[in-house]
Amino acid sequence: MKTAIFLLLLYVSKYDGHPLRYNQHKQHGSSLPEKYRISPKTGVRIALPTPEQLQWQAQEIGVLIHFNIATYIAADGCSGQSVPNISLFNPYLFNTDNWVQTMLDLGAKSAVLVAKHACGFHMAPTDVKFPLSPFGEVIPYNYSIDYSRVKGIDVLGNFVQSCEKKQIRTGFYYTVVSNNWFNVESGLIQNRTLQPGQVNVTQETYDNVVLQQLREIWSRYGTLNEIWFDGGYTSALKDPITALLANLQSQAVAFNGYGVSSNPARWIGTEMGIAPDPNWSTGITNDGGDPNSPIFCPAECDTTLQEHDRWFWVQLY
Ligand SMILES: *[C@@H]1O[C@H](CO)[C@@H](O)[C@H](O)[C@H]1NC(C)=O
Ligand SMILES: *[C@@H]1O[C@H](CO)[C@@H](O)[C@H](O)[C@H]1NC(C)=O
Ligand SMILES: *[C@@H]1O[C@H](CO)[C@@H](O)[C@H](O)[C@H]1NC(C)=O
Ligand SMILES: *[C@@H]1O[C@H](CO)[C@@H](O)[C@H](O)[C@H]1NC(C)=O
Ligand SMILES: *[C@@H]1O[C@H](CO)[C@@H](O)[C@H](O)[C@H]1NC(C)=O
Repeated sequence: MKTAIFLLLLYVSKYDGHPLRYNQHKQHGSSLPEKYRISPKTGVRIALPTPEQLQWQAQEIGVLIHFNIATYIAADGCSGQSVPNISLFNPYLFNTDNWVQTMLDLGAKSAVLVAKHACGFHMAPTDVKFPLSPFGEVIPYNYSIDYSRVKGIDVLGNFVQSCEKKQIRTGFYYTVVSNNWFNVESGLIQNRTLQPGQVNVTQETYDNVVLQQLREIWSRYGTLNEIWFDGGYTSALKDPITALLANLQSQAVAFNGYGVSSNPARWIGTEMGIAPDPNWSTGITNDGGDPNSPIFCPAECDTTLQEHDRWFWVQLY
């Protein structure tokens, strides 16, 4: 298979149909301060952006690279299915300078790479170990790149280096709420029968693995421009993720990050690449926003270059 990566455009619009992108858990008030000023004329609260949000909006076009084990299977991801064989992952023509040239040709100023998607395959080397249920045997997170055919290749590190050479700002996508290897959907271990290759862990183990891996990818690759919380985060992980983000990557703009980040961005509510009009940078709903909201949370409009809302490369014809 050719090194099939997909460059997906993110239009950062001046404001925000597909349930996947929603925060799955309603926010019960934010522990983060809202930034606004009071209008001396009317007394209403006027939302204020952070410098990081403004800088991010000025980038206008970014690239979201969906490259992971799902690139090598016929389905667009994994959900309740047997675990794709790790030896399928084999990017033997891997060249991140080539990715970056495509970004430059497009006029993108930033890029986000999928580190871990719903299949659970982690494209970063990881030191995380965890106990299996029910007997507690501790194993490494071996559904990860160092157990694949390209052990030793540092995809995230190469991506960051190539981007930095051309002043493209970087970020990572790591799904907190889905992991087919762990039988997790909507952030929760599912009660169904395990599929071949899936591992059995407790909810507490899963939550710990997520936090440890976020710490790894947020501390090993420099300053991140953007962090993607696709599907949001669970209420159980809200406080620890808030603390970790504040500690390691407080400057990053966080897609779906309202409630955990000082620099949140919201989903526009469609993956068709067409935003509602008008489209406000205020408000936290997944639509055109709310001009009267005291919360500055600009919208991001992600769309795939392939037909049928496909996010991982597939040979359609
Ligand atoms: C995974 O694929 C490799 C290489 O084709 C094969 O040797 C191995 O048996 C497969 N593993 C499973 C569990 O099917
Ligand atoms: C998974 O572990 C739990 C204990 O945490 C146990 O009750 C359950 O039977 C195990 N499931 C499988 C499929 O082994
Ligand atoms: C991961 O470790 C488990 C437990 O030792 C083993 O059953 C499984 O085959 C390993 N998977 C890979 C991809 O190495
Ligand atoms: C699984 O079953 C347990 C016990 O019935 C329940 O507490 C838990 O909410 C269920 N989890 C899911 C994800 O449905
Ligand atoms: C957002 O709204 C503005 C003002 O109404 C409009 O000019 C613009 O075309 C809209 N953007 C998109 C991407 O639809």
